Amino acid sequence: NVNPKSLIVIFGATGDLAKRKLFPSIYRLYQKGKLSEEFAVVGVARRSLSDDEFRRYVSQSIEDSTKQELSDESFVSHFYYHSLDVTSTASYQELKSLLERLDAAYDIPGNRIFYLAMAPEFFGTITSHLKSEGLTATDGWKRLVIEKPFGHDLKSAQQLNKEIRQAFSEKEIFRIDHYLGKEMVQNIEVIRFANAIFEPLWNNRFISNIQITSSETLGVEDRGRYYDHSGALRDMVQNHMLQMVALLAMEPPIKLSTDDIRSEKVKVLRALRPITHDEVDQYFVRGQYGRGFIRGQEVVGYREENNVDPTSNTETFVAGKLMIDNFRWAGVPFYIRTGKRMTEKSTKIVVQFKDIPMNLYYRTSESVHPNLLVIHIQPDEGITLHLNAKKSGESMKTTPIKLDYCNNCIDGINTPEAYEKLLYDCMRGDATNFTHWDEVAASWSFIDPISEVWANTKAADFPNYEAGSMGPKAADELLQKDGFHWWPLNGTI
Ligand code: BG6
Repeated sequence: NVNPKSLIVIFGATGDLAKRKLFPSIYRLYQKGKLSEEFAVVGVARRSLSDDEFRRYVSQSIEDSTKQELSDESFVSHFYYHSLDVTSTASYQELKSLLERLDAAYDIPGNRIFYLAMAPEFFGTITSHLKSEGLTATDGWKRLVIEKPFGHDLKSAQQLNKEIRQAFSEKEIFRIDHYLGKEMVQNIEVIRFANAIFEPLWNNRFISNIQITSSETLGVEDRGRYYDHSGALRDMVQNHMLQMVALLAMEPPIKLSTDDIRSEKVKVLRALRPITHDEVDQYFVRGQYGRGFIRGQEVVGYREENNVDPTSNTETFVAGKLMIDNFRWAGVPFYIRTGKRMTEKSTKIVVQFKDIPMNLYYRTSESVHPNLLVIHIQPDEGITLHLNAKKSGESMKTTPIKLDYCNNCIDGINTPEAYEKLLYDCMRGDATNFTHWDEVAASWSFIDPISEVWANTKAADFPNYEAGSMGPKAADELLQKDGFHWWPLNGTI
């Protein structure tokens, strides 16, 4: 299970992502023996640093993240640093000689991962220099890993794609959506396709609606500059939320190959009923948080956050109703909801089955609880199936019961972090849990009309939800109109 010998080149090596996610993930892979002995990591950023200074920075990042001392000092000796001016040809040539030296020193056959953990405005410049200066011309394989946001809308995403495709083929491009690295997101497929009891019911004859919530307690932290131009729709819905919809709704792939799974996901995204400008208010709700309390602590409203326009029209909350116009899902609403500064940090999927045809227990039980399958993505990882049973001791009175499976409660199992799994997949060349261009294009096509309307109309009621709440009232009304309600995230379901 050890990955092939490769050089990992991280652009943006002094940035937040590298510090919080990438270095700790590489370290965990190393500890688990999943990295070949001959690996080397080259950190690239503008700042000037010596190799030793960079190694200290990497150790510190890992210690901060794992809250433990680095147990193996030799690990950081595999790290090197190059200070790069992204527009200078000479600077890429120096980087090229460094990579060649490391290939020779570690006996690496030219396999290279270029990880762009930085602002997308430089993606085109960097990739074209990588090609023109010959950094991609080796005997081994090369892969480009890029972070979101992949464009701001369909048009800018197309432009960005065109630029990077001049240097890398689609097969060499690994677009990160870190939700696809989460254990329980990967489990959606197994729950669906490895259990005989769900698949026959997984359609519009038996499912009444599906609800996906991804709530956060954090605000925008120090990302105001990026977030105020993005908003929750682009930040969470275009990628993570739509990816979960695709995994829940796709047809069984003919086999578990990257292409077969992706092509099923793309079909779902293409089947999303397009929302016209006039329909946006009917299907989507936007929100922005005002002041409030998170776990008893008072927090400021969004417009008071650093680097946020005090009259900002940017949404920090989105709820939406999606319809998938295909045979399996016609008529079943998929409700999605995501936001910052909500009551709790939680990602959950609730599949609500249709009511039983008639209630035989009406004399003792006015209503019978619908069956629910809850997939807990985070922080708890597991599944709960909600059924009804006889209430003990009482004559034929029904009571809801739960069958519970907790994935992260098993002793000794420490679920790997999403980035750790994705990095490992990339090293092995498995692109299944990365987004293909066709998925990106289809999701932007769906999102664009909504963001256009929101950009052109000022939300008169912002801020419209208090920090620490579950979002604006309109998000509840969206379901009430259809005779449903959001299932609470904790306790009762
Ligand atoms: C990122 C968004 O993609 O996902 C952030 O840019 C958000 O704004 C984060 O906080 C949520 O990820 P997770 O793994 O904490 O649910």
